[in-house]
Amino acid sequence: MSEKKPFYITTPIYYPSGDPHIGHCYTTLACDVVARMKRMQGYDVMFLTGTDEHGQKIEKKAAEAGVTPKEYVDEIVENFKKLWGTLGITYDRYIRTTDDYHIESVQKIFRKLYDTGYIYKSEYKGKYCTPCESFWTESQLVDGKCPDCGREVTDASEEAYFFKLSQFAPQLRELLLDEEKDFLNPKSRVNEMINNFIEPGLQDLCVSRTSFTWGIPVDFDEGHIVYVWIDALSNYITALGFMNDRYNDYEKYWPADMHVMAKEIIRFHTLIWPAILMALGEPLPKKVYGHGWITFGAAGGKMSKSVGNVIDPFVLCERYGVDALRYHLLREMPFGADAPYSNEMMFNRINSDLANDLGNLVSRTVAMAIKYFGGTLPVEKEFNDSDEDLLRMTDELPDYVSDNFGTLHISDALARIFTVIARANKYIDENEPWVLAKDEANKPRLAAVLYNLLDTVRRCSILLSPVMPHICPEIFEQIGAGEECTTWASASERHALKADVTVKKGRVLFPRIDIEKELSELEALNKPQRELPEEPLKELTKFDNFAALDLRAVKVLSCEKVKKSDKLLLFKVDDGFGERQVLSGIAKYYEPEQLIGKTLAMIVNLEPRKMMGLESNGMIMSVRDGDKFRVIELGDDIKPGADIS
Ligand code: MSP
Repeated sequence: MSEKKPFYITTPIYYPSGDPHIGHCYTTLACDVVARMKRMQGYDVMFLTGTDEHGQKIEKKAAEAGVTPKEYVDEIVENFKKLWGTLGITYDRYIRTTDDYHIESVQKIFRKLYDTGYIYKSEYKGKYCTPCESFWTESQLVDGKCPDCGREVTDASEEAYFFKLSQFAPQLRELLLDEEKDFLNPKSRVNEMINNFIEPGLQDLCVSRTSFTWGIPVDFDEGHIVYVWIDALSNYITALGFMNDRYNDYEKYWPADMHVMAKEIIRFHTLIWPAILMALGEPLPKKVYGHGWITFGAAGGKMSKSVGNVIDPFVLCERYGVDALRYHLLREMPFGADAPYSNEMMFNRINSDLANDLGNLVSRTVAMAIKYFGGTLPVEKEFNDSDEDLLRMTDELPDYVSDNFGTLHISDALARIFTVIARANKYIDENEPWVLAKDEANKPRLAAVLYNLLDTVRRCSILLSPVMPHICPEIFEQIGAGEECTTWASASERHALKADVTVKKGRVLFPRIDIEKELSELEALNKPQRELPEEPLKELTKFDNFAALDLRAVKVLSCEKVKKSDKLLLFKVDDGFGERQVLSGIAKYYEPEQLIGKTLAMIVNLEPRKMMGLESNGMIMSVRDGDKFRVIELGDDIKPGADIS
């Protein structure tokens, strides 16, 4: 038996700094289509995806959320995996840059590059924002200020390691311009890389930092962590077992056949990544594909929080079906260009292509086979020349689809499949089966017409199955296509369907969408839910219970920290009748000086309590909202002792 040919395809590893959104879906879906097709074509496929989990942004987000960086990413990674499950993504391996084996490999790679002189130690100079503890480059600044907090930045430097990217400029230029290799697609990006980056002169790349800690330690220089790209890009080889024992298929799958991504990271994959591999003496990936962005909203933004919920991919899959979403995203984006996303466009696409064209073709054809032949076509058929146009168009499809799926021109391939589906619908109108059915003598011709239709549906559905992997098997069932005639190869065969095929009525594959209704329902779903306070409301109580409390304005005369307690502050307050001592557990929120002289609200008739050996007479009133905490201030013009009711 001949060995299957290996085929290795990768998505970028996504930042789990926030939940996955529909933008991430596009790349992953596109890779899934290629991976599924290649498997159907008999390749031994390795489809890799994963998450890029280190870096300052994640460190910060975790701190804001009050959890460790690992806890933070663990939760989001689960959501990525859940989304890929929902979308039917058939990845073979999922790499996390926090996985031990990856860390081990990256440390070895870094050390090797250092030992061979490609990495050297120098000084990183940049603009530093002290409150954010972040370095920025000049171009990242917004109006000369920190892009995160808007505050002033200062010139600063830190010790760092650098990768000698500059010395690879000639080889990189050659690689990008090599017509035979055809390394980067679309071609328009080649000039961009050369004119914008190679021509002005490649700078050496800073590959370590000391100003934050959430990253892979440089194992021979404490305090340094590997900074971003060496860590991230290496995933494509560490996931195969390069310099680790976790996996053992580097020899088999490397070099990758396709690295797929959107345009903003082409630069890293076509300059830095090949340079790292050249420095390591390893083969270069065969192809890099950089598609456009799915854009959102009138401003054409890449993605924003506010639109995020309206188009939650989980909601879209649940309401309109996974395959409808897959089809829409893949059909909408011509390779290399940006494509706007809106729910309305998706609904229109579902109604026209899927419900009207494909769904109708299947349901009409199956219904006619049942109506005119009880579901099983007779073997005797009368084909004629007028069938040729439809059959010839279908014959041309498999090669076209295979080439275009394989080069990420998925939208073009889908468009072509749907011209054949439209042609098949026209073939029904041309042949008027309902007229043929009136005369028994026409039965062989009627059988041929229905058979041609069923066989066209079969061939189109095979080619559609990498895009709509859940619906196509249902179509095969409805049209009576067994496994032997649903292989990729059989899409090239005319009339592979059994001559006496039996069809089966099934469910409506793509229900029509009432666009107005759905749009308003989605909008309602997206109305921000009111966030309920942490403390639920207590049960009703008698008025007397309230009246029994003596609430007063008190003026703070003195305030100091209680020794050996990090919680308690000790107050002397004037309650209008005299001085009293009270303790309050608010040292975390206030410095004593902030409260001296303030007029606060207090319950003055609580029985005395002892804390840390000190007596407390009453309770200073305060309000808590999540991690915000305030005492209730009454204003200077309120006299101590004033009654609160
Ligand atoms: N972690 C880096 C990649 C390292 S790869 C060695 C990164 N992560 S990311 O989370 O920002 O992902 C960027 C990628 O997500 C894009 O290149 C693209 O593949 C996908 N997309 C994210 N938003 C997208 C759109 N709005 N439209 C299309 N693709 C999008 O960069």
